[in-house]
Amino acid sequence: MTAEALLTIDTAALRHNIGVLRKAVEPAGVLAVVKANGYGHGAAGGARAFEDAGVDWLGVVDLGEAAALRESGISVPILAWLHAPGETFELAVRHDITPAISDLAQLEACAAAGVPVVHLCVDTGLSRNGAVESEWEALFDRAAALADRVRVEGIMSHLSNTSPHEDGLQMAAFVRAVGMLIERGITPPLQHLAASAAALTYGASRITMVRFGLAGYGLSPFDDRSSADLGLRPALTLTVPVVGVKSVKAGEGTSYGYTWRAPHDTTLALLPIGYADGVERFASNRASVLVGGRLRPVVGRIAMNALTVDLGADADGVAIGDEAVLFGDPAAGHPSVDDWARATGTINYEVVARLSPRLPRRYV
Ligand SMILES: Cc1ncc(COP(=O)(O)O)c(C=O)c1O
Repeated sequence: MTAEALLTIDTAALRHNIGVLRKAVEPAGVLAVVKANGYGHGAAGGARAFEDAGVDWLGVVDLGEAAALRESGISVPILAWLHAPGETFELAVRHDITPAISDLAQLEACAAAGVPVVHLCVDTGLSRNGAVESEWEALFDRAAALADRVRVEGIMSHLSNTSPHEDGLQMAAFVRAVGMLIERGITPPLQHLAASAAALTYGASRITMVRFGLAGYGLSPFDDRSSADLGLRPALTLTVPVVGVKSVKAGEGTSYGYTWRAPHDTTLALLPIGYADGVERFASNRASVLVGGRLRPVVGRIAMNALTVDLGADADGVAIGDEAVLFGDPAAGHPSVDDWARATGTINYEVVARLSPRLPRRYV
């Protein structure tokens, strides 16, 4: 046994989630988002599970991520939607990647590189990537002029999830963009706008394809509904062996700065995981870990590669080598990713996305 944390990814849960989500949005197609190292689940491993689950597309941020997926043997269509300044799009040609382009320069570069198919990315109010409304006419005119060289297979935008009113304004803008394209003789078969929250909220947002990130991994994009409420199964479990068990006397501290001192004689377990692994330091004295059949508080400062939990006076029989679960599926009695997010004032997205790529991942 190594003193190593382990991420176990339940591929059956990923397949289950895609099945549930596909049913929820039918007849729209499903794109699974595997950016950010597959939301911490591992880009290639997650992508393979989603490919096995029959997703229509995979989505990533940039061409480099997409090329790495191709090199790992992924063959479903891959969309990449954010590009480096001066991007030549040669990777797109070499690896059969579909770029979503946001401006004229990117469209021209695709045409010059011989990219056969693109999606057009329009900004309907998020003010991130995508062409803003005043640029649509010129972009769409040029796309129509290049139609025999570069086929526009899709049009996309991304919602802010601010409110039904704000999301409705964005959806209306998207409909305007599609209408302007159609006027120019281009009816893209793939019209996609919704990510997890919108797809599970607004039927009208699904159009012909939905881009599921978080929900595909079995996590809920809603504050007031859990994974189980949505019929989803969190796929990721983070375990770590207990590598030390130590008695401390009342008043003794643990870890840097003694932000916690034992309120009475107690026993601490040492876990070899810390902020270098992506476990947020802010979880110090806030989060809990399952070990010895019970939730135990993380006490003292989380260090770079270590944290301590309070086992109580008699240690409850916990011994070196026992497994601790930081988070997993609450249906299995584990703390949830949402518990960690709540404890640290962040969102479940961040808890999984910040997990270090160097943590070993096992797909079961
Ligand atoms: C363009 C785009 N589409 C889809 C997604 C997936 O979002 P979610 O994880 O909320 O489903 C993201 C993630 O932020 C995104 O940037």
